Amino acid sequence: MGLLRRPLVCGLLLLAAAGSGILFALYSATAKLYREPRAGDRDATSYQAFFGPEASEAGPRKTTILAPPHPNPQAAALPPPTSTSQPQAFSKRQPCHPLYLAVQRDPHFRGLFDLSIPVLLWGRLFTPELWDGLSLRKAPYGWQGLSRQVVASALALLNGSESAGLFAGPGEARARCLRCAVVGNGGILNGSRQGPHIDAHDYVFRLNGAVTRGFERDVGTKTSFYGFTVNTMKNSLYSYRNLGFTSVPQGQGLRYIFIPSDIRDYVMLRSAILGVPVPEGPDQGDRPQTYFGPEASASKFKLLHPDFIHYLTERFLKSKIINTNFGSLYMPSTGALMLLTALHTCDQVSAYGFITSNYQKFSEHYFDRKKKPLIFYVNHDLLLEAALWRDLHKAGIIQLYQR
Ligand SMILES: *[C@@H]1O[C@H](CO)[C@@H](O)[C@H](O)[C@H]1NC(C)=O
Ligand SMILES: *[C@@H]1O[C@H](CO)[C@@H](O)[C@H](O)[C@H]1NC(C)=O
Repeated sequence: MGLLRRPLVCGLLLLAAAGSGILFALYSATAKLYREPRAGDRDATSYQAFFGPEASEAGPRKTTILAPPHPNPQAAALPPPTSTSQPQAFSKRQPCHPLYLAVQRDPHFRGLFDLSIPVLLWGRLFTPELWDGLSLRKAPYGWQGLSRQVVASALALLNGSESAGLFAGPGEARARCLRCAVVGNGGILNGSRQGPHIDAHDYVFRLNGAVTRGFERDVGTKTSFYGFTVNTMKNSLYSYRNLGFTSVPQGQGLRYIFIPSDIRDYVMLRSAILGVPVPEGPDQGDRPQTYFGPEASASKFKLLHPDFIHYLTERFLKSKIINTNFGSLYMPSTGALMLLTALHTCDQVSAYGFITSNYQKFSEHYFDRKKKPLIFYVNHDLLLEAALWRDLHKAGIIQLYQR
């Protein structure tokens, strides 16, 4: 707690002063970046033991923890890459090093990963038991206090089997190693010239203020998935508009990954699939097409499972912030959720633009005009995330771009 104590006091004062929900409890810039692993991290058990048998009945979950018959069961049915540009030679030449093998070899991560956990929530998983179970936890980990009717009506629209998987296309078999790049927005990408390497992956995940125009050489052009909460998406459009983020990535084959952090995410999701203006709440009157383009169909929209977000937080990102006054504000960052989503759905994962130990050398975002320091808000724990990326990279489970 030593790391947090003083900043938290500052945060409290600022919070009181600001009287708003946005917080600035900052770690001191010289704080030691990495923490020792904690004993609790190693106590992980199987998904079933973790959430109990009731939860495990909510979906087609397997009890095997690792070594699924297929390198990654979530990706069992795949269409060819959705992008217009073909993966370049670099990804074809390299042999596949499926990440599940690296997970199996690592005594620490072997106990944390459950590669069979459902990543997405969709209509057929919506049962009375799931409702009861998720009603015990607040969003994004559950549905406490949310309107059942709103949640149910959104999920009713995600009822085709294609909504169960990120890549699912009916009846299409996958033939090869699925390589994914997840692109965070970190300043480390400025001047990196990683664009061609990023675009060479089969699928590219981006998030929040992911502007590509004008930054192609450093961040590439391909976007297969865009991840966000309605709050982070609209904040990005507002805050980074004059830095070039004038619209959310759009395109045929591009899919949107909703992070359900609030009832408004379910309301927006429902309106987006129906292609109608948002009927209620803070986004009332918004036309979803202005964000996601003209194509309104269930196959374009994916929804992270609240149980998956809970599992990720408990196993990988159980921050000490949870036990402070800010606990209810804490959740993994959008980038962390996307990277961990890729880890549970792809065979190989490269991470670009994520926080590294030398983050102070770089601006907050690659699209900043002037260098500005990375700000640590108390709703995320970026130092804990940095340690996780470092450890996953060391274990050979991800390739973390560093310079
Ligand atoms: C999915 O929902 C639509 C619209 O509510 C309905 O017409 C259809 O029968 C449902 N399909 C399944 C498989 O439940
Ligand atoms: C981006 O990189 C260029 C070249 O290395 C540098 O001059 C510039 O200051 C960087 N921009 C930011 C915002 O750090």
